Amino acid sequence: MRYTIANDPNTTVCDHPLCRQNLTVIRDKNTTAEVFRNAVRRLTYLLLYSATEDLETEEVTTITPIAECKTQVIKRDKKIILAPILRAGLIFSDIASDILPNASIRHIGMYRDEKTLKPVWYYDKTPIMYEDPQNTIVYILDPMIATGNSALDCITLFVRKRIPIENIRFVCLLAAPEGLAKIRNSYPNIKITTAHIDETLSKNGYIIPGLGDAGDRIFNTLGD
Ligand code: URA
Repeated sequence: MRYTIANDPNTTVCDHPLCRQNLTVIRDKNTTAEVFRNAVRRLTYLLLYSATEDLETEEVTTITPIAECKTQVIKRDKKIILAPILRAGLIFSDIASDILPNASIRHIGMYRDEKTLKPVWYYDKTPIMYEDPQNTIVYILDPMIATGNSALDCITLFVRKRIPIENIRFVCLLAAPEGLAKIRNSYPNIKITTAHIDETLSKNGYIIPGLGDAGDRIFNTLGD
């Protein structure tokens, strides 16, 4: 089951029973890194299934062992980009590239300055310009929309490279209302898919109730 928020048809909450089940696993502070990663991988299938449902397809001819028939493939002029935000977004990449085998993976590296809560860029593997921006579809992958600062920077990066906003999608596990509002202020039309919208943000920018630091939980670096 999915629903869109009443005043925001571009945010989809993937509220499927399997999403709920796996969210419970990753929220639990006693979940080990290995179990956490596996639950996020399962969520990646579910979120991507929802986020890609408007991809256009075209007809091709396929010969089965029995007969020739008309079948569908994702439109071949579409260039699909997966943009995981390092480091936590990496957890989405393997499954996402499995589902979208022809996609290019464009890593973006940023970390959060703990004082200002602003993103600090350290890596950008996106090309200077895209050859065919109208036919380029970008999935930005980051487990958390908290303050919305890094999401906003990343969306702006692709907008400056002339990718139409309706071709950019943001996929996350959890979103805070404050971060969503910040993104919506600048980009009312970007499509966001999340498994849940949580209550609020803590003073230091953590999602409440959230799941803690996604990167630390994925890479087993809690307590560093
Ligand atoms: N990033 C995280 O990993 N967790 C939060 O709660 C907020 C930002």
